[in-house]
Amino acid sequence: MGLKEELYEILEEAKKEVKKIKDKKLFDELRVKFLGKKGELRNILGKLGALGVEEKKEIGQAANEVKDKIQELIDEAAEKIEKQERAARLKKGVPDISVSRTIPPIGYYHPLTVIRDKMIGVFKNMGFSVEEGPELEEEYYNFDALNMPWYHPARDSHDSFYITKGKLMRTHTSPMQARIMQKRKPPLAVVVPGRCFRRDAVDATHSHTFHQMEGLVVDKNITFADLKGTLLTWAKMMFGPQTSIRMRPDYFPFTEPSAELAVTCPICAGKKCSVCKHTGWIEIAGCGLVDPEVFKNIGYDPEQVSGFAFGMGLERIAMVVYGIRDIRYFYENDMRLIEQFVK
Ligand code: DAH
Repeated sequence: MGLKEELYEILEEAKKEVKKIKDKKLFDELRVKFLGKKGELRNILGKLGALGVEEKKEIGQAANEVKDKIQELIDEAAEKIEKQERAARLKKGVPDISVSRTIPPIGYYHPLTVIRDKMIGVFKNMGFSVEEGPELEEEYYNFDALNMPWYHPARDSHDSFYITKGKLMRTHTSPMQARIMQKRKPPLAVVVPGRCFRRDAVDATHSHTFHQMEGLVVDKNITFADLKGTLLTWAKMMFGPQTSIRMRPDYFPFTEPSAELAVTCPICAGKKCSVCKHTGWIEIAGCGLVDPEVFKNIGYDPEQVSGFAFGMGLERIAMVVYGIRDIRYFYENDMRLIEQFVK
Protein backbone atom coordinates (compact mmCIF):
# COMPACT_ATOMS: atom_id res chain seq x y z
CA MET A 1 0.00 0.00 0.00
CA GLY A 2 1.35 3.43 -1.01
CA LEU A 3 1.62 6.32 1.45
CA LYS A 4 -1.35 8.08 -0.08
CA GLU A 5 -3.56 5.04 0.44
CA GLU A 6 -2.30 4.83 3.99
CA LEU A 7 -3.32 8.44 4.52
CA TYR A 8 -6.86 7.81 3.31
CA GLU A 9 -6.98 4.69 5.41
CA ILE A 10 -6.19 6.85 8.43
CA LEU A 11 -8.96 9.28 7.49
CA GLU A 12 -11.48 6.44 7.23
CA GLU A 13 -10.36 5.08 10.55
CA ALA A 14 -10.72 8.51 12.14
CA LYS A 15 -14.26 8.83 10.75
CA LYS A 16 -15.26 5.54 12.32
CA GLU A 17 -13.75 6.37 15.69
CA VAL A 18 -15.28 9.83 15.81
CA LYS A 19 -18.70 8.31 15.23
CA LYS A 20 -18.29 5.92 18.13
CA ILE A 21 -17.51 8.55 20.73
CA LYS A 22 -20.26 9.66 23.08
CA ASP A 23 -18.19 11.36 25.77
CA LYS A 24 -16.55 14.64 24.87
CA LYS A 25 -13.49 13.96 27.06
CA LEU A 26 -12.48 11.18 24.67
CA PHE A 27 -12.05 13.61 21.79
CA ASP A 28 -8.78 14.80 23.25
CA GLU A 29 -7.51 11.22 23.14
CA LEU A 30 -8.52 11.01 19.51
CA ARG A 31 -6.69 14.23 18.73
CA VAL A 32 -3.53 12.79 20.26
CA LYS A 33 -3.97 9.49 18.51
CA PHE A 34 -4.34 10.96 15.01
CA LEU A 35 -2.80 14.40 15.10
CA GLY A 36 -0.42 14.32 18.09
CA LYS A 37 3.38 14.27 18.03
CA LYS A 38 3.46 10.50 18.06
CA GLY A 39 0.20 10.22 16.15
CA GLU A 40 -0.55 8.27 13.02
CA LEU A 41 -0.13 11.20 10.62
CA ARG A 42 3.28 12.05 12.03
CA ASN A 43 4.23 8.50 11.44
CA ILE A 44 3.61 8.89 7.74
CA LEU A 45 5.26 12.31 7.53
CA GLY A 46 8.34 10.68 9.04
CA LYS A 47 8.55 8.50 5.96
CA LEU A 48 8.55 11.46 3.54
CA GLY A 49 12.31 11.86 3.79
CA ALA A 50 12.88 8.83 1.61
CA LEU A 51 10.80 10.17 -1.28
CA GLY A 52 11.63 12.17 -4.38
CA VAL A 53 10.79 15.90 -4.61
CA GLU A 54 7.59 15.52 -6.63
CA GLU A 55 6.23 12.72 -4.51
CA LYS A 56 7.14 14.54 -1.33
CA LYS A 57 5.07 17.50 -2.48
CA GLU A 58 2.09 15.35 -3.43
CA ILE A 59 2.05 13.28 -0.26
CA GLY A 60 2.76 16.34 1.90
CA GLN A 61 -0.26 18.12 0.42
CA ALA A 62 -2.50 15.08 0.88
CA ALA A 63 -1.29 14.73 4.47
CA ASN A 64 -2.26 18.32 5.18
CA GLU A 65 -5.70 17.83 3.69
CA VAL A 66 -6.25 14.71 5.75
CA LYS A 67 -5.05 16.51 8.88
CA ASP A 68 -7.48 19.39 8.33
CA LYS A 69 -10.31 17.01 7.61
CA ILE A 70 -9.71 14.98 10.78
CA GLN A 71 -9.47 18.20 12.81
CA GLU A 72 -12.79 19.31 11.35
CA LEU A 73 -14.45 15.96 12.04
CA ILE A 74 -13.38 16.00 15.65
CA ASP A 75 -14.39 19.64 16.18
CA GLU A 76 -17.80 19.13 14.61
CA ALA A 77 -18.53 16.00 16.60
CA ALA A 78 -17.32 17.62 19.83
CA GLU A 79 -19.54 20.61 19.24
CA LYS A 80 -22.51 18.42 18.50
CA ILE A 81 -22.08 16.52 21.75
CA GLU A 82 -21.51 19.78 23.64
CA LYS A 83 -24.79 21.11 22.27
CA GLN A 84 -26.65 17.94 23.20
CA GLU A 85 -25.26 18.05 26.71
CA ARG A 86 -26.16 21.73 27.08
CA ALA A 87 -29.69 21.08 25.87
CA ALA A 88 -30.00 18.21 28.33
CA ARG A 89 -28.78 20.41 31.19
CA LEU A 90 -31.21 23.17 30.26
CA LYS A 91 -34.02 20.67 30.09
CA LYS A 92 -33.21 19.70 33.65
CA GLY A 93 -33.43 23.37 34.58
CA VAL A 94 -29.69 23.89 35.12
CA PRO A 95 -28.75 27.39 33.92
CA ASP A 96 -25.65 27.53 31.75
CA ILE A 97 -23.48 30.28 33.19
CA SER A 98 -20.64 29.44 30.84
CA VAL A 99 -22.48 30.76 27.80
CA SER A 100 -21.18 34.19 26.89
CA ARG A 101 -23.66 36.56 25.38
CA THR A 102 -22.84 39.60 23.34
CA ILE A 103 -25.33 42.31 24.17
CA PRO A 104 -25.98 44.46 21.12
CA PRO A 105 -25.80 48.17 21.89
CA ILE A 106 -29.32 49.52 22.34
CA GLY A 107 -30.64 52.98 21.62
CA TYR A 108 -32.07 55.39 24.14
CA TYR A 109 -34.63 58.14 23.85
CA HIS A 110 -33.11 61.61 23.92
CA PRO A 111 -34.32 63.61 26.96
CA LEU A 112 -35.95 66.16 24.63
CA THR A 113 -37.82 63.34 22.90
CA VAL A 114 -39.02 62.00 26.24
CA ILE A 115 -40.29 65.44 27.29
CA ARG A 116 -41.88 66.12 23.90
CA ASP A 117 -43.68 62.76 23.91
CA LYS A 118 -44.87 63.24 27.48
CA MET A 119 -46.25 66.68 26.63
CA ILE A 120 -47.94 65.35 23.51
CA GLY A 121 -49.51 62.61 25.63
CA VAL A 122 -50.85 65.14 28.13
CA PHE A 123 -52.29 67.42 25.45
CA LYS A 124 -53.78 64.55 23.46
CA ASN A 125 -55.61 63.46 26.60
CA MET A 126 -57.09 66.96 26.74
CA GLY A 127 -58.34 66.64 23.16
CA PHE A 128 -55.54 68.38 21.26
CA SER A 129 -54.27 67.10 17.94
CA VAL A 130 -50.63 67.31 16.88
CA GLU A 131 -49.26 69.06 13.80
CA GLU A 132 -45.83 69.87 12.50
CA GLY A 133 -44.77 72.72 10.25
CA PRO A 134 -41.88 73.84 8.05
CA GLU A 135 -38.57 74.85 9.64
CA LEU A 136 -37.80 77.03 6.64
CA GLU A 137 -40.64 79.50 7.02
CA GLU A 138 -42.00 82.48 5.16
CA GLU A 139 -41.42 85.83 6.76
CA TYR A 140 -45.14 86.38 6.40
CA TYR A 141 -46.07 83.53 8.76
CA ASN A 142 -43.13 83.98 11.11
CA PHE A 143 -43.80 87.69 11.62
CA ASP A 144 -46.41 89.59 9.57
CA ALA A 145 -49.38 87.26 10.14
CA LEU A 146 -48.55 87.33 13.85
CA ASN A 147 -49.01 91.06 14.01
CA MET A 148 -45.32 91.84 13.60
CA PRO A 149 -44.99 93.95 10.46
CA TRP A 150 -41.47 94.81 9.27
CA TYR A 151 -41.21 97.90 11.44
CA HIS A 152 -42.31 96.11 14.63
CA PRO A 153 -39.68 96.36 17.39
CA ALA A 154 -40.41 92.80 18.60
CA ARG A 155 -38.67 91.51 15.46
CA ASP A 156 -35.39 92.66 16.99
CA SER A 157 -35.68 90.14 19.79
CA HIS A 158 -35.86 87.34 17.20
CA ASP A 159 -32.39 87.49 15.70
CA SER A 160 -33.08 85.50 12.57
CA PHE A 161 -31.30 83.35 10.02
CA TYR A 162 -32.58 84.61 6.68
CA ILE A 163 -32.07 82.14 3.85
CA THR A 164 -33.44 84.19 0.95
CA LYS A 165 -35.55 87.28 0.71
CA GLY A 166 -38.80 86.58 2.51
CA LYS A 167 -37.71 83.17 3.85
CA LEU A 168 -36.02 82.43 7.15
CA MET A 169 -35.46 79.59 9.59
CA ARG A 170 -38.49 79.96 11.87
CA THR A 171 -37.63 81.74 15.11
CA HIS A 172 -40.55 80.13 16.96
CA THR A 173 -43.36 77.61 16.39
CA SER A 174 -45.99 80.38 16.45
CA PRO A 175 -46.15 80.73 12.62
CA MET A 176 -48.06 77.45 12.68
CA GLN A 177 -50.89 79.30 14.44
CA ALA A 178 -51.50 81.26 11.27
CA ARG A 179 -50.99 78.27 8.96
CA ILE A 180 -53.41 76.08 10.93
CA MET A 181 -56.11 78.74 11.15
CA GLN A 182 -55.79 79.46 7.45
CA LYS A 183 -56.21 75.80 6.60
CA ARG A 184 -58.97 74.85 9.04
CA LYS A 185 -62.16 76.17 10.54
CA PRO A 186 -62.76 76.42 14.30
CA PRO A 187 -63.24 74.70 16.68
CA LEU A 188 -59.62 73.65 16.88
CA ALA A 189 -57.15 72.57 19.54
CA VAL A 190 -53.66 71.83 18.25
CA VAL A 191 -50.14 71.51 19.61
CA VAL A 192 -47.09 71.92 17.38
CA PRO A 193 -43.72 70.60 18.51
CA GLY A 194 -40.69 71.61 16.50
CA ARG A 195 -37.21 73.00 16.04
CA CYS A 196 -36.60 76.73 16.02
CA PHE A 197 -33.58 78.83 15.17
CA ARG A 198 -32.17 82.13 16.36
CA ARG A 199 -28.88 83.89 15.81
CA ASP A 200 -28.06 83.68 19.52
CA ALA A 201 -24.54 83.24 20.87
CA VAL A 202 -24.30 79.76 22.39
CA ASP A 203 -23.90 79.54 26.17
CA ALA A 204 -25.26 77.47 29.05
CA THR A 205 -28.84 78.64 28.45
CA HIS A 206 -28.82 79.65 24.76
CA SER A 207 -28.57 77.65 21.58
CA HIS A 208 -28.99 78.73 17.96
CA THR A 209 -31.21 75.67 17.48
CA PHE A 210 -33.81 74.77 20.09
CA HIS A 211 -37.26 73.26 20.47
CA GLN A 212 -40.65 74.68 21.26
CA MET A 213 -44.19 73.44 21.56
CA GLU A 214 -46.91 75.74 20.42
CA GLY A 215 -50.53 75.42 21.51
CA LEU A 216 -53.60 76.94 19.90
CA VAL A 217 -57.27 76.67 20.78
CA VAL A 218 -59.96 78.53 18.85
CA ASP A 219 -63.71 78.24 19.33
CA LYS A 220 -66.69 80.34 20.30
CA ASN A 221 -66.42 81.94 23.76
CA ILE A 222 -62.90 80.84 24.68
CA THR A 223 -61.75 82.88 27.69
CA PHE A 224 -58.64 83.44 29.74
CA ALA A 225 -60.09 80.97 32.28
CA ASP A 226 -59.89 78.23 29.63
CA LEU A 227 -56.23 79.06 29.10
CA LYS A 228 -55.54 79.01 32.81
CA GLY A 229 -57.37 75.72 33.35
CA THR A 230 -55.56 74.07 30.45
CA LEU A 231 -52.12 75.20 31.63
CA LEU A 232 -52.80 74.22 35.24
CA THR A 233 -53.89 70.74 34.15
CA TRP A 234 -50.82 70.43 31.94
CA ALA A 235 -48.49 71.59 34.73
CA LYS A 236 -49.88 69.07 37.22
CA MET A 237 -49.57 66.24 34.69
CA MET A 238 -46.01 67.23 33.78
CA PHE A 239 -44.52 68.11 37.14
CA GLY A 240 -46.80 66.40 39.66
CA PRO A 241 -50.18 67.10 41.33
CA GLN A 242 -48.68 69.43 43.94
CA THR A 243 -47.73 71.93 41.21
CA SER A 244 -49.31 75.40 41.12
CA ILE A 245 -49.05 77.99 38.35
CA ARG A 246 -48.53 81.75 38.33
CA MET A 247 -49.53 84.03 35.46
CA ARG A 248 -48.07 87.51 35.17
CA PRO A 249 -48.81 90.17 32.58
CA ASP A 250 -46.39 90.09 29.65
CA TYR A 251 -46.29 91.29 26.09
CA PHE A 252 -46.42 89.37 22.81
CA PRO A 253 -47.55 90.99 19.56
CA PHE A 254 -49.88 88.07 18.70
CA THR A 255 -51.73 87.73 22.01
CA GLU A 256 -53.82 90.21 23.97
CA PRO A 257 -53.78 90.06 26.91
CA SER A 258 -50.47 88.17 27.19
CA ALA A 259 -48.97 86.40 30.15
CA GLU A 260 -45.83 84.72 31.30
CA LEU A 261 -46.50 81.32 32.87
CA ALA A 262 -44.47 80.07 35.82
CA VAL A 263 -44.83 76.77 37.73
CA THR A 264 -43.80 76.06 41.31
CA CYS A 265 -40.26 74.72 41.17
CA PRO A 266 -40.55 70.93 40.71
CA ILE A 267 -37.11 70.45 42.25
CA CYS A 268 -37.75 72.12 45.65
CA ALA A 269 -41.58 72.19 45.49
CA GLY A 270 -41.53 75.97 45.80
CA LYS A 271 -39.25 76.01 48.85
CA LYS A 272 -36.54 77.88 46.92
CA CYS A 273 -33.38 76.31 45.54
CA SER A 274 -30.63 77.06 43.05
CA VAL A 275 -32.63 75.72 40.07
CA CYS A 276 -35.38 78.31 40.64
CA LYS A 277 -32.78 80.90 41.64
CA HIS A 278 -34.31 80.97 45.12
CA THR A 279 -37.66 82.30 43.91
CA GLY A 280 -39.69 79.08 44.19
CA TRP A 281 -40.96 79.64 40.61
CA ILE A 282 -39.81 78.53 37.17
CA GLU A 283 -40.85 80.66 34.20
CA ILE A 284 -41.77 78.22 31.52
CA ALA A 285 -44.02 79.60 28.79
CA GLY A 286 -45.51 82.60 27.06
CA CYS A 287 -49.25 82.65 26.48
CA GLY A 288 -52.35 84.74 26.00
CA LEU A 289 -55.60 85.21 24.12
CA VAL A 290 -55.21 85.30 20.35
CA ASP A 291 -54.98 88.94 19.27
CA PRO A 292 -57.97 90.03 17.10
CA GLU A 293 -55.43 91.36 14.57
CA VAL A 294 -54.14 87.82 14.02
CA PHE A 295 -57.70 86.57 13.42
CA LYS A 296 -58.24 89.35 10.90
CA ASN A 297 -54.96 88.57 9.12
CA ILE A 298 -55.97 85.00 8.41
CA GLY A 299 -59.63 85.70 7.76
CA TYR A 300 -61.43 84.75 10.99
CA ASP A 301 -64.00 87.15 12.43
CA PRO A 302 -62.87 88.17 15.96
CA GLU A 303 -66.50 88.97 16.77
CA GLN A 304 -67.42 85.35 16.15
CA VAL A 305 -64.52 83.40 17.64
CA SER A 306 -61.90 83.73 20.33
CA GLY A 307 -58.93 81.63 21.31
CA PHE A 308 -55.81 81.18 23.35
CA ALA A 309 -52.23 80.30 22.47
CA PHE A 310 -49.08 79.31 24.30
CA GLY A 311 -45.47 78.61 23.47
CA MET A 312 -43.12 76.53 25.59
CA GLY A 313 -39.39 75.84 25.39
CA LEU A 314 -38.70 72.10 25.54
CA GLU A 315 -35.06 72.51 26.56
CA ARG A 316 -36.03 74.64 29.53
CA ILE A 317 -38.60 72.10 30.69
CA ALA A 318 -36.19 69.18 30.24
CA MET A 319 -33.47 71.06 32.11
CA VAL A 320 -35.78 71.61 35.04
CA VAL A 321 -37.21 68.09 35.08
CA TYR A 322 -33.84 66.34 34.82
CA GLY A 323 -31.64 68.89 36.56
CA ILE A 324 -29.51 69.39 33.43
CA ARG A 325 -27.52 72.58 33.99
CA ASP A 326 -26.17 73.32 30.53
CA ILE A 327 -28.27 73.40 27.33
CA ARG A 328 -25.24 72.31 25.27
CA TYR A 329 -25.46 68.79 26.73
CA PHE A 330 -28.59 68.22 24.63
CA TYR A 331 -26.72 68.50 21.35
CA GLU A 332 -23.43 66.77 22.06
CA ASN A 333 -24.74 63.22 21.71
CA ASP A 334 -22.63 62.07 24.61
CA MET A 335 -23.87 58.58 25.45
CA ARG A 336 -23.11 59.15 29.13
CA LEU A 337 -25.95 61.68 29.16
CA ILE A 338 -28.31 59.97 26.72
CA GLU A 339 -28.05 56.60 28.47
CA GLN A 340 -29.79 58.03 31.51
CA PHE A 341 -33.06 58.56 29.66
CA VAL A 342 -34.41 55.16 28.71
CA LYS A 343 -38.08 55.88 28.43
N1 DAH B 1 -43.48 82.54 20.24
C1 DAH B 1 -43.06 83.11 21.52
C2 DAH B 1 -41.54 83.09 21.60
O1 DAH B 1 -40.91 82.33 20.97
C3 DAH B 1 -43.64 82.33 22.64
C4 DAH B 1 -45.12 82.52 22.74
C5 DAH B 1 -45.65 83.48 23.56
C6 DAH B 1 -45.98 81.71 22.04
C7 DAH B 1 -46.99 83.68 23.69
C8 DAH B 1 -47.37 81.91 22.14
C9 DAH B 1 -47.86 82.90 22.98
O2 DAH B 1 -48.23 81.15 21.48
O3 DAH B 1 -49.20 83.03 23.11
O4 DAH B 1 -40.99 83.85 22.36
